[in-house]
Amino acid sequence: MYTPEMFESIKKVEATRESRIGADLRRMTADEKEKLLNEYHPDRKKDAFTTLKIGPNKGEKVPLELAALLEGNSRVKDLNLDLDDIDYDVDVLVIGGGGSGSSAAIEAHENGANVMIVTKLRLGDANTMMAEGGIQAADKPNDSPLIHYLDAFGGGHFDAQPDLLRKLVMDGPGAVKWLNELGVLFDKEKDGTMITIHGGGTSRKRMHAAADYSGAEIMRTLRDEVFNRRISVVDFTAAIELLLDENGSAAGAILQNMETGEHFVARAKTVIIATGGAGRMHYQGFPTSNHYGATADGLVLGYRAGAKLLYQDSLQYHPTGVAYPPQIFGALVTEKTRSIGAQILNVDGEAFMNPLETRDVCASSIIRECSTRGKGVPTPEGYGVWLDTPLVELVYGKGTIEKRIPGMMRMYGKYDIDIRVVPMLVYPTLHYQNGGLRIRVDGRTADINNLYVAGEAVGGIHGTNRLMGNSLLDIIVFGRNAGKNASEASKSIPTPGRLNLKHVERYTKELKDAGIKSDVFSPKLLPMYTHRKR
Ligand code: FUM
Repeated sequence: MYTPEMFESIKKVEATRESRIGADLRRMTADEKEKLLNEYHPDRKKDAFTTLKIGPNKGEKVPLELAALLEGNSRVKDLNLDLDDIDYDVDVLVIGGGGSGSSAAIEAHENGANVMIVTKLRLGDANTMMAEGGIQAADKPNDSPLIHYLDAFGGGHFDAQPDLLRKLVMDGPGAVKWLNELGVLFDKEKDGTMITIHGGGTSRKRMHAAADYSGAEIMRTLRDEVFNRRISVVDFTAAIELLLDENGSAAGAILQNMETGEHFVARAKTVIIATGGAGRMHYQGFPTSNHYGATADGLVLGYRAGAKLLYQDSLQYHPTGVAYPPQIFGALVTEKTRSIGAQILNVDGEAFMNPLETRDVCASSIIRECSTRGKGVPTPEGYGVWLDTPLVELVYGKGTIEKRIPGMMRMYGKYDIDIRVVPMLVYPTLHYQNGGLRIRVDGRTADINNLYVAGEAVGGIHGTNRLMGNSLLDIIVFGRNAGKNASEASKSIPTPGRLNLKHVERYTKELKDAGIKSDVFSPKLLPMYTHRKR
């Protein structure tokens, strides 16, 4: 339950509520947004970044925490591994068991490949499972992939790779149809038409959802499909380094059992990195909405093997993470809460911004309100602003909250906060990595043959700010794309020759030559919340 001081502020929220019904909250101009981002967005904070000293992106800007991993020691260092002793031998090795990995595996299997998923947790323990608000696709008569493209391109600061974004929007309607036919229970009208709503930065209602459990519902369906097809899944096992063949093409990975520490050699004709995001890196000390396993592993694996990163300095801070209660600090409060009408308010109950500005703008505006303007609501962890959910019930009728965002109602309900009656206290939380490994439109890295990437580990699909619902879309579109193309390629690839780790030796030498001494071992695999050293 909220503190007495918070209830004092809630009285002010209640006092302004009626007058805010139907309020047309002004959007910021492009100049206002740029100024705001420059001053308040965490990505613009100079001392939170450094310059990479080695590797394909040498000389480029990168968050301090990611630099420590990219310039850390390999986990195979000092291991005496027999690379001729093959434990697993497949056509397509998928690293990662979330939405993109599962989609890739399903499509590769559909295309006749012998495919294996390796995942450091269980199949489905991933950010996909945590996604709430929905998936975008331009499948309504008043919409088109072109309009979707324009929304996403502008929202991403015109930085998206045009060919990747084009694929995302063009394949959007087909992706939602595919999910629907696999059995995803999307919200529908009585006549079966998909219900679609707005997200921040969308000019058309194209967000398809399953209440506010969209990701869990999608992951449930994909996981069923993986199991129904009897695709091999090796769980609680992480890939700790890629293996290359004599030509420098990807040809497998060294695996490590997370419980026993045992190592295994997996040989594959093609490899798909689908390891997800990096929220558990807690960049700049932010809390996160991300799954426990989101530690940027794929970026480390790919980078060390020679694959280039794109926009590795661009992160997304979701405007509305839980600011209070502390037990769920940083957890995601879906943007759908704003899509269905909740406004963002300061300590005095004033609406200081349009709640459907793009995420980077919205998050920066909240940070400004709480810092320079001193209009945040104090919490044990810092500050928050109100997300006025009772307004939704007032405008759209009793029962709307329970029907449209039941997950939010339950999450807060556990702490005796009834969001139909009192607002939610929120603050930005680390949500998404806009950057990642650079790919071509067929899903393959530009730098390494037979190495594909899908999902959040890819950089450049969304530019430097992603719109809500385009991530669930990209894991499906680019997951299936990578699965199809990797399996197709594997048909003409002979069994790889001798496997090697020469790239790791080269990398280790580069570290030494650059005078870098590190006690970090990467990939990180799991976050560490205790004070143990390793
Ligand atoms: O707010 C949300 O439900 C998050 C969606 C997304 O990141 O796409």
